[in-house]
Amino acid sequence: MAEYVPVCPTAELGPGEVREVEAHGEKLALLNIGQTYYALSAACPNDGTNLAREGRLDGDALVCPNDGWAFDVRTGERVRPRGGPALRRRAIAVKDNQVLIGPRLPEAFRGAA
Ligand code: FES
Repeated sequence: MAEYVPVCPTAELGPGEVREVEAHGEKLALLNIGQTYYALSAACPNDGTNLAREGRLDGDALVCPNDGWAFDVRTGERVRPRGGPALRRRAIAVKDNQVLIGPRLPEAFRGAA
């Protein structure tokens, strides 16, 4: 079982904020949406844009500035345009005021709506 590794103090990532972190050899976008944390692969599956640095939040979606693809932060699923490649997700835990990142979660549904 993959271990959980600390990547960020909770006090350093407020609601609506995104930051780039690295865990388990993977660059990730760590997000805080309404005090719930999410970790998604940072590279846009279209052309590799770093979504942790260049993406912007639009509600529950992380939007790539290049071609406008948008991903549901909660599932990693691409929602604009719907279907197609998703972002990989990792499990999150919070302990001792630190955000920890754990194993990969199952992939989001990739079918078209
Ligand atoms: S690189 Fe992200 S939508 Fe094209």
